[in-house]
Amino acid sequence: MVKQFPKDFLWGGATAANQYEGAWNEDGRGPATSDTSRAVDPSERRSMGSEFSTPMTLEKVVAALEDTEGLYPKRWGSDFYHRYKEDVALMAEMGFKTFRMSISWSRIFPKGDELEPNEAGLAFYDKVFDELNKYGIEPLVTLSHYEFPLHLVTAYGGWKNRKVIDFFVRYAETVLNRYKGKVKYWLTFNEINILGMTGYLSGGLLFEDGKLHLQEMYQAVHHQFIASSLATKLAHEIDPNNKVGMMLARMEAYPATCHPDDIMEAIHKDHANLFYSDVQVRGYYPSYMKRFFKENEIELVFEPGDEAILRQYPVDFMSFSYYMSSVTRSPKNQTEEQKATAGNLILGEANPYLEASDWGWQIDPVGLRVTLNKLYDRYQIPLMVVENGLGALDTLENDGAIHDSYRIDYLEKHVQQMYEAIEDGVDLMGYTPWGCIDLVSASTSEMSKRYGFVYVDADDQGHGSFDRYRKDSFFWYKELITSNGASILK
Ligand code: BG6
Repeated sequence: MVKQFPKDFLWGGATAANQYEGAWNEDGRGPATSDTSRAVDPSERRSMGSEFSTPMTLEKVVAALEDTEGLYPKRWGSDFYHRYKEDVALMAEMGFKTFRMSISWSRIFPKGDELEPNEAGLAFYDKVFDELNKYGIEPLVTLSHYEFPLHLVTAYGGWKNRKVIDFFVRYAETVLNRYKGKVKYWLTFNEINILGMTGYLSGGLLFEDGKLHLQEMYQAVHHQFIASSLATKLAHEIDPNNKVGMMLARMEAYPATCHPDDIMEAIHKDHANLFYSDVQVRGYYPSYMKRFFKENEIELVFEPGDEAILRQYPVDFMSFSYYMSSVTRSPKNQTEEQKATAGNLILGEANPYLEASDWGWQIDPVGLRVTLNKLYDRYQIPLMVVENGLGALDTLENDGAIHDSYRIDYLEKHVQQMYEAIEDGVDLMGYTPWGCIDLVSASTSEMSKRYGFVYVDADDQGHGSFDRYRKDSFFWYKELITSNGASILK
């Protein structure tokens, strides 16, 4: 019997406007938080970059916007804005069934609080969706992916302000109506849990004292939950064919030992991560968060009706990113050295059984099967892996080839584990590896951290032709899709 993936499995690739589109100040687009992201020096790669570790202040925002000398690579991305036809043709050549992309909110509502949208912005996405439709590629659209109109930061204080829910709902309603019949699959907030760890990129939160404030971060998260539920409600009303998903940065954390305190620590880590999907899939706050809020002196403001909104409009499916696993150890069992590095956002301590990428991300294909099983056991709704992949340094050879066997190896092992998870009984809708065409890194704003099947000829300074080249992985993925997985499931 030939081993294959389910018949309608959605093979594709994933991108986001803030890192891919470029054209940050064209056709009426307003500035967004991502436009203030400065590229980090390669020596800081393993720190997860400043985007995810340093609280943002108003002074820094203003300085970045006025800065014409510094490196802000998300402003030019991979120039998808002008090259979408060429890129969609490359996706079609690989046989994509779906393409994950995001809409830039500030292209539609440049300041975020206008009553009328920017027609030029709406028209751009019409052209992209029509191009995808030409090849039978189903768009999967994220409404908010690591960017947020800057005016909503300076005038309203970001997502901690409840008024932002109304602005988001207006934006969602506008695009849901405009693209009715063209887009069926929607995600509301990319990696919604990262807001509870950082604040600025997706939440527009500023912390003038340089410290993260959990009260404001969790209030902002609550507002995003409500906004997501209201967008889900609208999506279903506007077109009953619409399917709306939540999106989690899944952080699979293994206990470092079988010491009961380490096991308990892993449960705490899971709670911190799965809180977001618990609310968005089940429709209510999990009981374990009450203790967390109490111990951290967090008092969330719920308006009357909020609980009902969450309960009535949960998501249709759950999507998540998976790049690596981590190792967790109870503070009681940590050495002084481990305590000193424990502040790292995601990386945690080294797993002796795994290798890591050049950026220190620990490569763990079996962890994907572990996580798929855990999530499906917990929620029993369709799942989708909407990000996965290896950020690596690639070399463009003189003949235009890119030999990325390391990427093929990474992806192949993860796809094999997805197959095993499906055999375990997991309802998996599809797979969209991250950065299918090279784009700027979210955490470090480097171009040289490449994920794609297609190489984009641009360097960290934005120099280059921006021409596209097929990597070896391009041909590998094409064969995989054509055979519906059979080429690697021997
Ligand atoms: C996810 C984000 O966190 O990981 C993407 O949704 C991001 O926007 C991706 O690009 C990979 O991270 P990085 O920092 O390597 O670009």
